[in-house]
Amino acid sequence: LPVVVLISGTGSNLAALLEAARAEDCPFRVVAVIADRDAAGLEHARTAGIPAQIVRLGDHPDRAAWDQALADAVAAHGPDLVVLAGFMKLVGPPLLEAFGGRIVNTHPALLPSFPGAHGVRDALAHGVRITGCSVIEVDAGVDTGRILAQAAVEVHEDDTEAALHERIKAVEQPLLVDVVRRLTSAG
Ligand code: GRF
Repeated sequence: LPVVVLISGTGSNLAALLEAARAEDCPFRVVAVIADRDAAGLEHARTAGIPAQIVRLGDHPDRAAWDQALADAVAAHGPDLVVLAGFMKLVGPPLLEAFGGRIVNTHPALLPSFPGAHGVRDALAHGVRITGCSVIEVDAGVDTGRILAQAAVEVHEDDTEAALHERIKAVEQPLLVDVVRRLTSAG
């Protein structure tokens, strides 16, 4: 089934999805990648020969116009599932209305703890010994949607945000691939 992936960053989760989609028995294929900025991860799409597009907030008169443009750009590819893989903006009503219940997001903390843009930093600052990642269904809130899957990661004594985030990403990628596989499998 066709999947559109939205990114803002390096796209390591996107790369994992592209790698999984190469397998013959994979139930999904990535048909387009859309970013809100000149994200480094767009390169993964270009290398794989998949349409890559930027829909910038700054190129639109206001947030509502951008929300609509983003929804239109996604809808143009007719996906069954929309995957936010390190997409650092809230999606607006047009996308939620068009793909309600068919948008998933990955977050680098064990929700409902540490939602928002700094899940790794906030968990570290709070002093938790275990954190991890969550794949959720996207709703109108900030990381408030139904939890689809989670994986735990231990915090080390002398951890840095970067080191911890790297270990989280290592479990986040296969977790996201599993969920996307499950949601695009028949039955
Ligand atoms: C992921 O950990 C995601 O959960 C968070 O930012 C990271 C994006 O990584 N929001 P990448 O762009 O997939 O490498």
